[in-house]
Amino acid sequence: MELKNILVEHEKATATITINRPEKLNALNKETIQELHDVLSLLETNENVRTIIITGSGEKAFVAGADISEFAHFSEKQGAELARKGQELLFDFVENMKTPVIAAVNGFALGGGLELAMSCHFRIASDNAKMGLPEVSLGVIPGYGGTQRLAQLVGKGRAMEMVMTAGMIDAQSAKEFGLVNHVVPQADLFATYMGIADKIQRNSPVAIGKAIEAINANFKDGVNGFETEIENFGICFGTADFKEGTTAFLEKRRPVFEGK
Ligand code: COA
Repeated sequence: MELKNILVEHEKATATITINRPEKLNALNKETIQELHDVLSLLETNENVRTIIITGSGEKAFVAGADISEFAHFSEKQGAELARKGQELLFDFVENMKTPVIAAVNGFALGGGLELAMSCHFRIASDNAKMGLPEVSLGVIPGYGGTQRLAQLVGKGRAMEMVMTAGMIDAQSAKEFGLVNHVVPQADLFATYMGIADKIQRNSPVAIGKAIEAINANFKDGVNGFETEIENFGICFGTADFKEGTTAFLEKRRPVFEGK
């Protein structure tokens, strides 16, 4: 697969995706969204990949938003299509992946950049990170799920204020708001991520996938999250990972999960 805008590296069971348009502060153009979709689809079916990290290249930006130059001349119809296609290809896709996807926010995460970080299963940030949804300053609203996910993560009042003011918050405020889980110096971001990834990778990939689905169910229209939990809880009992996990516990050894 030829990739022009992102880099993919593998270390042990972790895949690192780096959005690599530093001259445009890693802004998400159409091509980058498609490449992210293609790579994430491949990684989701790769049994050797147990955690995925998404970050931005350079020290300044995670992603400074959707690429404004691409949509500045769009009609209403094209605008709606841009949002719908982007949500399907990337933002909803990431949220619903079974492999944990963690955003390492290493600088500006604005507009589509914050929306991408919010689609990930959780976020860690460097202490220089700045986050915001500045779309109303451009005369538009967040279109990649930002109005929904920001309110879910930080609460309605804070989301309203952040969106209306188009302002940025720093990493410490983002942590206080519950938008990011950890804030560390930029140089420690990857090591922090790897420490968390190591803990995740000790656990059953099948159970983690089922848990992600159950947690997400709470935020889906017309879906009863408790029912999803009951169903997925039951499904786990039929898996090799469950047999291995319970047997290893009873035999007082560490489990070796195959993700089946
Ligand atoms: N889309 C397209 N290009 C972008 C971009 C975006 N969202 N964000 C930054 N860039 C480009 C700039 O146009 C500039 O390109 P140029 O050198 O060819 O002129 C380059 O990235 C560097 O950005 P610059 O604005 O010069 O850096 P800065 O340090 O002065 O400011 C920001 C940094 C993040 C505050 C500023 O780039 C910005 O406000 N970006 C837009 C954020 C936004 O509104 N995002 C939501 C989009 S829906």
